[in-house]
Amino acid sequence: MSPRKPTILVTGGAGYIGSHTVLALKRAGYEVVILDNLVYGHRDLVEKVLQVELIAGDTSDRALLDQLFQTRNIDAVMHFSAYAYVGESVTDPAKYYRNNVLGTLVLLEAMLAASIKKFVFSSTCATYGVPEVVPIPENHPQNPINPYGATKLMVERILSDFDVAYGLKSVRFRYFNAAGADPNGLLGEDHNPETHLIPLVLLTALGKRESISIFGTDYPTPDGTCIRDYIHVSDLADAHILGLEYLLQGGDSEVFNLGNGLGFSVKEVIAASEEVTGLTLPVQECDRRPGDPPSLIGSSEKARKILGWQPQYPGIKDIVLHAWQWHQQRHK
Ligand code: UFG
Repeated sequence: MSPRKPTILVTGGAGYIGSHTVLALKRAGYEVVILDNLVYGHRDLVEKVLQVELIAGDTSDRALLDQLFQTRNIDAVMHFSAYAYVGESVTDPAKYYRNNVLGTLVLLEAMLAASIKKFVFSSTCATYGVPEVVPIPENHPQNPINPYGATKLMVERILSDFDVAYGLKSVRFRYFNAAGADPNGLLGEDHNPETHLIPLVLLTALGKRESISIFGTDYPTPDGTCIRDYIHVSDLADAHILGLEYLLQGGDSEVFNLGNGLGFSVKEVIAASEEVTGLTLPVQECDRRPGDPPSLIGSSEKARKILGWQPQYPGIKDIVLHAWQWHQQRHK
């Protein structure tokens, strides 16, 4: 008889990065249970595409978690669920500290009570704040400039302390700009409200929005617009499988950046989108958006070296093309 494949609880598995990772977990043969409160997650994608068990609920619901851990054989938890609108985190920080920090603390305590000690956590490059050096290495100082980044940093600290005190082993992934969609068109990015550059550009290409706003053209960058490190969501998903396997094989707690180490400006993203769609897209040059660092590029050497991670789709055109295929189909 072949050994049982581990069962993974994926919080936020009905969301953007979570759903792509569930797809990768299924392909790798894992059993998956999703816990998602469906505030932003998509039940239809879980039911039609992922076809795994979905428990609708919150990570701050201790009774639900206790019952879940008692009735299923969970080997590890991947924790994606969080609020992630930087602007909203500034105007309503309580919402972010309650959900992102408190919700995670309750989850971790329930895990410990059930003796589950392997945890993969979605952190962010927003924990670095305005970088002193780029590409940013993992040991760069962490000084977040918004409450969203602060909530993720707090959880990182909780995880360090829980390792020392309780032996909870975690992999913390600091994502740069997640983008793109499943190359087979099964899943994609579908936020409501949408605030991210690539989907907004593509919604403009589809005629769903009048024009693209470029937030700031006077940054100290070659074309004056902000530079970001866009990383394909399916490459992020692959990294999660590697991080999980690292922990299941007894690896110690670690933190990894996940980016391509390549920067593209807002104008370069729009140009790539024009090439992919074959359209000339209307743009409006606007003021800077508060809280945007000029340039964020990550060094992911550590993930490549320790996990053997190798992004499959580092080019901005592939990222935009896959997103475009998804958006065309989603908005038919
Ligand atoms: N931008 C525009 N116009 C838009 C939307 C965005 O010019 O309509 C610009 C932004 O100013 C920024 C770049 O495009 O320079 C990328 O913006 P996104 O909103 O797509 O992504 P962010 O870099 O702001 O945010 C991402 C993640 C956050 C994370 C952050 C870390 O979505 O969760 O990176 O800095 F916190």
